[in-house]
Amino acid sequence: MDTYNIAIIPGDGTGPEVTIEAVKVLNAAAAKFGFKLDQTEYDLGGERYKRTGETLPDSALAELRQHQAILLGAIGHPDVKPGILEKGILLSLRFAFDQYINLRPVRLFPGVETPLKGKGPDDIDYVVVRENTGGIYTGVGGISMKGTPHEVAVQSMVYSRFQVERCLRWAFEYTRNHGKKARGKGDANTLGLVGKTNVLTFVFDLWERAFHEIGDADYPDVKRDYYHVDAACMWMVKSPEWFDVLVTTNMFGDIITDLGAITQGGMGIAAGGNINPGGVSMFEPIGGSAPKYTGQNVINPLAAICAAGMMIESLGQQQAADAIEAAVRTVTGTRLKSLSAGKMGFSTTEVGDMVAALVADA
Ligand code: IPM
Ligand code: MN
Repeated sequence: MDTYNIAIIPGDGTGPEVTIEAVKVLNAAAAKFGFKLDQTEYDLGGERYKRTGETLPDSALAELRQHQAILLGAIGHPDVKPGILEKGILLSLRFAFDQYINLRPVRLFPGVETPLKGKGPDDIDYVVVRENTGGIYTGVGGISMKGTPHEVAVQSMVYSRFQVERCLRWAFEYTRNHGKKARGKGDANTLGLVGKTNVLTFVFDLWERAFHEIGDADYPDVKRDYYHVDAACMWMVKSPEWFDVLVTTNMFGDIITDLGAITQGGMGIAAGGNINPGGVSMFEPIGGSAPKYTGQNVINPLAAICAAGMMIESLGQQQAADAIEAAVRTVTGTRLKSLSAGKMGFSTTEVGDMVAALVADA
């Protein structure tokens, strides 16, 4: 029997509650589709930091490295200064495991309310490939003369050809295999580059040249589009149906995927994967730790469940992933009143139970 060695990081706030439901669904999928999950839990997050001062000890990193994938709940604690846990755990994990792709689907599921008037599941159905280990997130820069009237702060957008190229190649490959034509939903597989070639003329010159060189040479079958990031935000609201696969830098990807997430019904449903195609990938709900809902059994676990589905797909269990997605669609389409915490009409646990039962009956 196929066995997968999975690390679970429940994390902070409502992270543990949603992670338990995601694991419940994974276990149902494992039983149904005949594979096994060896799970080890890692206690990383704000509570541990408060107790020990540690964010991501080397020993934890070394152990995590021994796993085939990581499922993360949420990182962020109201008593810890912003930046410490985000940089010390989440970003450190992305960088340490060189998870250079952040794959964030923007899909409106049936029955889910979107703030975009007149748009339905057929219109909001695209993915963002966010470069995940470069750009402004690299941390190149500094502050000098701090605290004086002359202080200067610099935070540079740094991209190497290598980083740009590997991200674009992955995005082209993904578009060829999962674009709208490949999914029977359109007559082309289209990759759109989101940039700012009119102002950031160094970094996006590199991105744009690499985009067309790689496209011409190796992906002539993939249609290419380009959007300035500000305009892309507009079209994501006005005409999301134009998009198929978008690829962009780390910072732009961070911003536009929150916009995307709200169009798909919000943080209750938005999931993503931090992917190293040849290494350890990490899957997470995009939303935060939602501290005010902690322990109330009211938070929506579907984003974590979708992240678990993406994880199992990346491990090769396509049928299980499809069953999880179908179950989530059934639950949003026919059961939940809303995706918002406390308004679902069911508790966190009940939603997990429903999805798990549907997967078991798939
Ligand atoms: C995200 C988050 C993180 C990011 C933060 C918490 C560091 O906003 O995953 O989108 O900026 O990447
Ligand atoms: Mn973000």
